[in-house]
Amino acid sequence: MSPDARSAWFRTLGQLMLVLAVGLGVGLLIGHPWPALTIAALAVVAWHYWKLRGVLLRLTARQRQAPPTGTGVWNELDRLLARGQSEMRARKRRLLSMLRAYRAAAAALPDAVVVVERNSQRILWFNEAATPLLGLQHPRHQDASVVTALQPLPMASWLAAGRNAEPLTDVASPANAGMRLNLRLIPYSDELWLLVARDVTRTMRLEHMRRDFVANVSHELRTPLTVIHGYLEMLDPEDNPDWAPMLAEMQLQSQRMAQLVEDLLTLSRLEARDALPEEPVAMTPMLTALRREAEALSQNRHRITVTDEAGIDLLGSTRELHSAFGNLVANAVRYTPAGGEVELRFARDADGGATLSVRDTGYGIPAAHLPRITERFYRVSTSRSRESGGTGLGLAIAKHVLGLHGARLEIESEVGKGSVFACRFGPERVQARAPNHATATP
Ligand SMILES: Nc1ncnc2c1ncn2[C@@H]1O[C@H](COP(=O)(O)OP(=O)(O)O)[C@@H](O)[C@H]1O
Ligand SMILES: [Mg+2]
Repeated sequence: MSPDARSAWFRTLGQLMLVLAVGLGVGLLIGHPWPALTIAALAVVAWHYWKLRGVLLRLTARQRQAPPTGTGVWNELDRLLARGQSEMRARKRRLLSMLRAYRAAAAALPDAVVVVERNSQRILWFNEAATPLLGLQHPRHQDASVVTALQPLPMASWLAAGRNAEPLTDVASPANAGMRLNLRLIPYSDELWLLVARDVTRTMRLEHMRRDFVANVSHELRTPLTVIHGYLEMLDPEDNPDWAPMLAEMQLQSQRMAQLVEDLLTLSRLEARDALPEEPVAMTPMLTALRREAEALSQNRHRITVTDEAGIDLLGSTRELHSAFGNLVANAVRYTPAGGEVELRFARDADGGATLSVRDTGYGIPAAHLPRITERFYRVSTSRSRESGGTGLGLAIAKHVLGLHGARLEIESEVGKGSVFACRFGPERVQARAPNHATATP
């Protein structure tokens, strides 16, 4: 008990004693001590009831009143209660203003933010941007089902994926067919999930413009290059021996440009697609063709081995997979000095999938370059790549093709020892090998 409360309590006890003593004294004087004491005691109880009423009235009052003055235990109690009440009011005000500030911040976000209750899939709250981006409206969609409110977005399956849900990229907005959105689901507690939608219309338009530009430029360059290349081929160095070195260089460079244009067109074609046709990809002839290409490029400078342990075929696009594998094989030969080894291996994985790996004993790639090695035009050594006739697009093409097959490109490399480029295909890409292919093994 605080000193104030204790002294108030003693003071009230003193007053009580005094009233009873006075009552008893008066009773003795008039010769009726017990009735007088009883009356005094009743007066004390009545007074306390009166004070209690005052406290109750103050506690339940709607309007704030000044804290009571005066002494005594009731006044002290009243003051304590008033203090507690005003502290609670202040805390509530602070919390409310904090909540308002958070709501204002969330409302001002340019991205749509929707709070969804996980089990019931109901919309608990959404900000202003959710109206133009997702078509949600107050009060119609308050407490509505997010699945029906955001049709035709595949919300049900997306929510079912829960914490593993991949972001939905470049989907049409349910409010505006011309608007493209990126959607993310962020579980921020067991019950509440945050759905965040961002307008990427402009970014996507720019991305399309960039793609179209590259594709168009490449396409426009193709014909003139073919013409130049054709005429250069017709020129015979023996007609003019002085020009022979220049002619050879011109032929080499025009060939490089033609290859660059072809690679750019391949990449543009791959970028424009979401999926590739799923046809059986006969792996025996594929491996035979890859071996032939490697041998042609190596000119007997490397030992080339092909091991086929998988005994299955793949499902996907033969043409694109050939270009992806071909790029890896060409790199292995190009970036391995004469006398080195190049090994192609096609084997099953423990998970039922299959892996085609290309191993070489070449220069290797420093670890610092590995994260960026599949970017367009990224090279460890520009001069070595040029010398070897590379365009800087081979790995970008390979990665894109594999991505379209749901496959991964895994790269391990050690400088001076060599590299392994492994293409891992999931079980869904595996299918039994057709018997006529098996008999065609070289
Ligand atoms: N098997 C490999 N061994 C060493 N370096 C490699 C290998 N494959 C690719 N690289 C490095 O990765 C770079 C990018 O490869 P790629 O995209 O095929 O372009 P490039 O046309 O230069 O071959 C190459 O320039 C080279 O530095
Ligand atoms: Mg290459």
